[in-house]
Amino acid sequence: MVNKTLAGKVALVTGGSRGLGTATAIALADQGADIAISYVASEEKAAAVVGQLQAKGVQAIAIKADQGDPCASEPLIRQVVEKLGKLDILVNNAAVAWQGKTIDDPEIDNAAMDRQWAINTMGVIANIRAAARVLPDGGRIISVGSGLGTRVAFPGTTDYAATKAAIVGYSKGAARDLGARNITVNVVQAGMMDTDMAAGSKDKLPPIIMASHAIQRYATVEEVAAAIVFLAGPGAGFITGSVIDVSGGFTA
Ligand SMILES: NC(=O)c1ccc[n+]([C@@H]2O[C@H](COP(=O)([O-])OP(=O)(O)OC[C@H]3O[C@@H](n4cnc5c(N)ncnc54)[C@H](OP(=O)(O)O)[C@@H]3O)[C@@H](O)[C@H]2O)c1
Repeated sequence: MVNKTLAGKVALVTGGSRGLGTATAIALADQGADIAISYVASEEKAAAVVGQLQAKGVQAIAIKADQGDPCASEPLIRQVVEKLGKLDILVNNAAVAWQGKTIDDPEIDNAAMDRQWAINTMGVIANIRAAARVLPDGGRIISVGSGLGTRVAFPGTTDYAATKAAIVGYSKGAARDLGARNITVNVVQAGMMDTDMAAGSKDKLPPIIMASHAIQRYATVEEVAAAIVFLAGPGAGFITGSVIDVSGGFTA
């Protein structure tokens, strides 16, 4: 029998209806974890992912929760505990990437930038706060960042990059706060992936962006999910307050 490293664990993957979130939910389920996914709009896609996960023999549910609403985190975490019995692993994956204009561009939509902060940063923080109260000793918190959180290599991405840099700082502090309970808190900084978020960018990328990667291609979602599963697993119990780049050397 294959040893499943996460059998008996319950994981919440935010934004599990598409892209990296779906790949992460599947990879965690492959290791035996029961899974909750959240989504904001893609009800049918979320239901399809739940079906895929259940077909693997684990429990799976989907919960609609807008990460841009500061009041949504508590009920999200509470529903996971009520429906799946507990929460062992929080994966903060949901985010938006509204980029393209420099901060002095009169056309920049500052209200959208503020909403991006609400989703990518304040929503992640609210999830961590709510999860911290219910996670057992040895629990795991993994947030998905971006290579842009470390290295802003081109203009037009200030707010997005900063939302991702902020969760690195918060995760380091949370690692200190929760270390006494052996709860680990880490960030996986993804490189470019060919998901909806990056839709259409592949052929339009300025050559300098791809040239600034040591490995000059997009990441697969499975490559990034593998790092998240590792941090969720028993082999990563002494890794906390860390940032793991899965970005093809973009930050090298
Ligand atoms: N793609 C890249 O090149 C890239 C590069 C570096 C880092 N990342 C990071 O990787 C993570 C996953 O990105 P992805 O490419 O898989 O994105 P994606 O394909 O656009 O999927 C985004 C997911 O987040 C959910 N979401 C968006 N806004 C939400 C909100 N307000 N409340 C709750 N859920 C919300 C979406 O739910 P709905 O389906 O319901 O809309 C969807 O499940 C993100 O943290 C992103 O910043 C991506």
